Amino acid sequence: MEGELLSALCTPALVVDVDKVKRNAQRMIERCQELGVQLRPHMKTHKTIECADIMTGGSRRSIVVSTLAEACFYADHGFDDILYAYSVPFDKVERCAALSERLDLFQVLLDHPDALEQLKKRPLRDGRQWHVWLKLDCGNGRAGVLHSDPEAVRLAQAITEAEGVQLTGVYAHCGNTYNCKGVEQIQAVAQETTSLTLQFMEKLKAIGITCKSSIGSTPSCSHPVKDMAQLSEVHPGNYVFYDVQQSLIGSCSLEDVAVRVLTRVIGHCPHRNQLLIDCGWTGISLDGAGKLPTGYAVIEGHPNLKLLSMTQEHGRVEPISGPLDYSKYPLGSLLTLIPYHSCATAMMHPVYHVHSEGRLLGKWTPTRGW
Ligand SMILES: Cc1ncc(COP(=O)(O)O)c(C=O)c1O
Repeated sequence: MEGELLSALCTPALVVDVDKVKRNAQRMIERCQELGVQLRPHMKTHKTIECADIMTGGSRRSIVVSTLAEACFYADHGFDDILYAYSVPFDKVERCAALSERLDLFQVLLDHPDALEQLKKRPLRDGRQWHVWLKLDCGNGRAGVLHSDPEAVRLAQAITEAEGVQLTGVYAHCGNTYNCKGVEQIQAVAQETTSLTLQFMEKLKAIGITCKSSIGSTPSCSHPVKDMAQLSEVHPGNYVFYDVQQSLIGSCSLEDVAVRVLTRVIGHCPHRNQLLIDCGWTGISLDGAGKLPTGYAVIEGHPNLKLLSMTQEHGRVEPISGPLDYSKYPLGSLLTLIPYHSCATAMMHPVYHVHSEGRLLGKWTPTRGW
């Protein structure tokens, strides 16, 4: 299909604009160079080799993953310096050990002394050390020891003192930037997470512990604050695709969004003033819960259309106001959906169709599983 127009695809199909991907990736690389921090891009949004190559500038080094399936996939393709940024699951310690013994630098993350005990129970072979990041909660309210909890410093100390284990860094994810609207709010959260992380690093320094520090999310790294220059690393991921959610937060403009779902009109329902499309929740996901004025997605070029609801393989579309002009949407015609959350939408697709200016270039195949 190479060289053909997007309209040659069977739908629903996830299409990736490679020029926008490259532009988004390059902007993040330059932003981090200007700041003087190491970019450790997260792979969770796309989970492909091709996009990872674009994000790492071809180095195949210094990445974050959210599943062991991703870690193994990237290790199998010659990537190294991989951080598995997920509280180390006890059923997967052996697989983590195997990766630690195989790669130059495989790193795990934890936020509980029991996890440290699990690592100590499985010493690495050939004199290798477990490389551990301590997960800190600086207000995100998900994983991590609360930054102000004395247990956080105690755990850092315990990691440092444990035989066969070394404290590589402190990792705080500012997912709370997703509650922001506009650059000012994003930067306030970025500043707070940065300040709390740097204060924690000072506490460690006071007891003789030095290690790396990393914060990040797509909103905060799209609009970094000056103090982020004092961190060692940042770890955004979604920026390579962006999505409607990011444009509403203020991370990007809708122009920057690199992915779409193509869908076709498969039914007319004049008795309900609706039409049906071949994209259900298996094609775009239910993320966003239909809260947009246009429902579950933005229908490109048709601001008066709303993706109202979906079942597994059907979507219901209706006008925001007025009667539908069915002559504009004949059966078989294409509509283009801009996803609310590209990470969730990409997860629904076994392949991504890559194009440049609407001409197909090839396919990217993501890894799946945990
Ligand atoms: C632990 C962790 N680190 C980094 C990221 C990347 O952040 P973003 O998706 O905002 O780019 C995520 C995203 O969910 C995450 O969960």
